[in-house]
Amino acid sequence: MKPKYTTILFLLALFLIASTHACKKKPDNPIVPPTDTLYTLTPDTLIYPPHFPAPELPADNMPAKERYQLGRMLYYDTILSNDGRACAGCHIQNYGFSAPALYKNVMPVLPHENLAWYKNFMWDGSKTGTLEDLMLFEVTDFFGTDLSKINASTKYKPLFKKYFRVDNITRKEIAYALAQYVRKIITRQSKYDLYMQGLVSLTPDEYYGYRIFFTETGDCFHCHSNPVMSDNQMHNTGLDSLYTKDADKGYFNVTGNTNDLGKFRTANLRNVAQRNYYMHDGRFTTLQQVIDFYDHGMHKVNNLDPIMALPFKTDGLHLTDLQKTQLIAFLKTLTDTTFVTDPTLSNPN
Ligand code: HEC
Ligand code: HEC
Repeated sequence: MKPKYTTILFLLALFLIASTHACKKKPDNPIVPPTDTLYTLTPDTLIYPPHFPAPELPADNMPAKERYQLGRMLYYDTILSNDGRACAGCHIQNYGFSAPALYKNVMPVLPHENLAWYKNFMWDGSKTGTLEDLMLFEVTDFFGTDLSKINASTKYKPLFKKYFRVDNITRKEIAYALAQYVRKIITRQSKYDLYMQGLVSLTPDEYYGYRIFFTETGDCFHCHSNPVMSDNQMHNTGLDSLYTKDADKGYFNVTGNTNDLGKFRTANLRNVAQRNYYMHDGRFTTLQQVIDFYDHGMHKVNNLDPIMALPFKTDGLHLTDLQKTQLIAFLKTLTDTTFVTDPTLSNPN
C-alpha cells in the first residue's frame, strides 16, 4: 500500500521540527535570570534506612553536593580554629566521630551520627535548634573562627562565592556548609539496621539481648528509642546522689531548675562499642561497667526518672550474667563498620 501524500508531508514536517530543535541551542530563559543561590548547586539526597522518618530540612540550606563538599573540607581543615585544631582532630571518623581518649578539661567528645534527627545537642542539652544553629555556635563560641583568615584564602574564597554567592564570608556561611556535612553523617548499615529491614538475622545472644533491650526486662527502649536510639530528652538516670562537680549538674546548668539536676540527654548508642569512655564524664570505660550500673548501681534521688523508678526495679534490673552478656552482644550490633571507613566522609584535603 502506498502511503498517502498527506502522511508523507506530516512525517517530513515532524522531521524538520525535530532536527531544528536538536541543532539549535536552546536560548537562555530570559524571564528567570540565574540569580537564586541554588543556581550553581546540585541537589543532593540524604540516604537513610527505610525505618527512619524523613528528616526535617531547612529551606534555605537544602542538601547540595557542593556545599556538602565544602563543609567536609572545612571540617578537616585547621583554618577554622586559632590553635591548629580541626573538628576532625577530636571527632574521629574511626570512632564514630568521637575520640578514643578523654581530652583534658573537656567532656568526652560526643560522637555525631544521625544528628539530622536531633533537636537537642550536647551532653546536657545546652544547645537546641537546627544543625545550622549548632554549627554557628561551634565556629563562633567554640572556635572563635577568625574570618580574616578564611576571607584571605584563595582556596575557599571562590568556593563560597560560587556556592553561597558572597563576597565576604561570614560565620553563617561557614556554619551552613558544616551543617551540610554533619547532616550527611548517617549510619545505616549496622547489623541492627539490616536486621530491621529483614536482611540479616541475629545470633541467639544478640536476639535475646535485643529482647532485653526492647522489653521491660532491661527497659532501655523507653529512653534509647528507635530509630536513633535516643528520645533526645533529658533524664536523671541516678548516676549520682551528690553533684560535686558542676558538669554533673547537667540540664540544671541550662535551666537553673533544681528538678533538672543530674539530667542528661539520652546518649546516642550507635557505634557505642567503638568508644571507650561512657557517660557525660567518661566515668565508665567498658560496656560491662555501664550495664552493671543499670543493673545495681543507680541512686534513688528524688528527681530520678520515673522510668528508672518502676516498681520492679527496686535498685536496678538485677539481670543474670548471661542476660548482661546478651545485652552487650546486642549493643555491638549497633556498630556500623562501613560507616567508620566510608570514603565519602573522610578527609578530602
Ligand atoms: C577539643 C576537641 C573538639 C573539637 C576540636 C571539636 N569538638 Fe565538637 N565536641 C567536643 C566535645 C567534648 C563535645 C561535647 C561537649 C558538651 O557536651 O558540652 C562536642 C560536641 C559536638 C557536637 C554535638 C553532638 C551531639 O550529639 O549533641 C557536634 C555536632 C560537634 N561537637 C561538632 C563539632 C564541629 C563541627 C567542630 C569543628 C568546628 C568541633 N565539633 C570541634 C569536642 C570537640
Ligand atoms: C530513663 C532513661 C534511660 C534509660 C531507661 C536507659 N538509659 Fe542509657 N542513658 C540515658 C542517659 C540520659 C544517658 C547519658 C547519661 C550521661 O550523660 O551521663 C545514657 C547513657 C547510656 C550509655 C552510655 C553511652 C555513651 O556514649 O556514653 C549506654 C551504653 C546506655 N545508656 C545504655 C543503656 C542500656 C543498655 C539501658 C537498659 C538497660 C539504658 N541505657 C537505659 C538514659 C537512659
